[in-house]
Amino acid sequence: MAEFGHRSVMPAEVLALLSPRAGGVYVDGTLGGAGHGRMILEASAPDGILIGFDRDPEALAAARERLAPYGNRVKFVRSNYATMAESLAELGVDAIDGFLLDLGVSSHQLDTAERGFSFQVDAPLDMRMDPESGATAADLVNELSSDELARIIREYGEERWAKRIASFIVKMREEHGAIESTLQLVDCVKGAIPRGAWEERIHPATRTFQALRIAVNDELGSLERGLAAGIELLATGGRGVVISFHSLEDRIVKNVFRRYAQGCTCPKMLPRCVCGGKPRARVLTGKPVMAGADEIAENSRARSAKVRAVEKL
Ligand SMILES: C[S@@+](CC[C@H](N)C(=O)[O-])C[C@H]1O[C@@H](n2cnc3c(N)ncnc32)[C@H](O)[C@@H]1O
Repeated sequence: MAEFGHRSVMPAEVLALLSPRAGGVYVDGTLGGAGHGRMILEASAPDGILIGFDRDPEALAAARERLAPYGNRVKFVRSNYATMAESLAELGVDAIDGFLLDLGVSSHQLDTAERGFSFQVDAPLDMRMDPESGATAADLVNELSSDELARIIREYGEERWAKRIASFIVKMREEHGAIESTLQLVDCVKGAIPRGAWEERIHPATRTFQALRIAVNDELGSLERGLAAGIELLATGGRGVVISFHSLEDRIVKNVFRRYAQGCTCPKMLPRCVCGGKPRARVLTGKPVMAGADEIAENSRARSAKVRAVEKL
């Protein structure tokens, strides 16, 4: 296997917020190259437990190798973190002391051309984090209607040219039979967005690729479910930390945290609470924590990263 290249984002900030301790049980929902995972194991030595999730068998294999020195302090689960409650129950775990979600894809996934995540190299249009299940990006662009494609590209890519891109996709698949490769999709996008509207430092296909990746992997649905599952599983004083990379993810994190911190779900117009809901968590980050200039200079992925954390009451 190629070297698993991925630089962990904001390691010190994440560790300070998660604050692992000896004897604790921690979930890394997005194990990837296990950079954060290893830090959690070190900080919870000598007997803290790490349960690492990844949907990508290649990431999990690399993590297994890297974390071998920690022996049975680490458990590996090849699954979506959204279903962590069920996976943990199978391991006999019903409460945890912390969890970390470092969202999106790893640099390794982006750099492995044949996974189809990158608009820079020609490859089959796949984009599945778990390459053995579910529809590929090619399935979506070839099978969805123009309206459905436009909705995905607009909502998940926040792309103002979504409608035009969708109609170019439909036109290309009518002319060529099917769109099978990343660069065919790039051509559609470049054709659809007028040259004068290309942004200076952002590749015109960035938003469309982000949108399809989110749809293929149901990334926002997983985040919503996984975050709630993680907070439910936290023991009192346990902490959840999330690193997000775009506004759609950050909005979900903020809203789920707020829901647990407010407790009360009464409509605002009621003069007083009738639901009796009590706060179940405390938000530790009023504003999200962002990377410093030094880290951004060394790791461009850190530029858009936002860290938020919550503590169970
Ligand atoms: C940004 S990387 C994590 C990097 C890791 N924190 C490190 O320090 O090396 C994200 C990883 O999470 C995995 N992933 C993303 N969403 C997932 C999900 N819903 N369930 C399980 N794994 C997921 C991806 O396959 C990828 O390997």
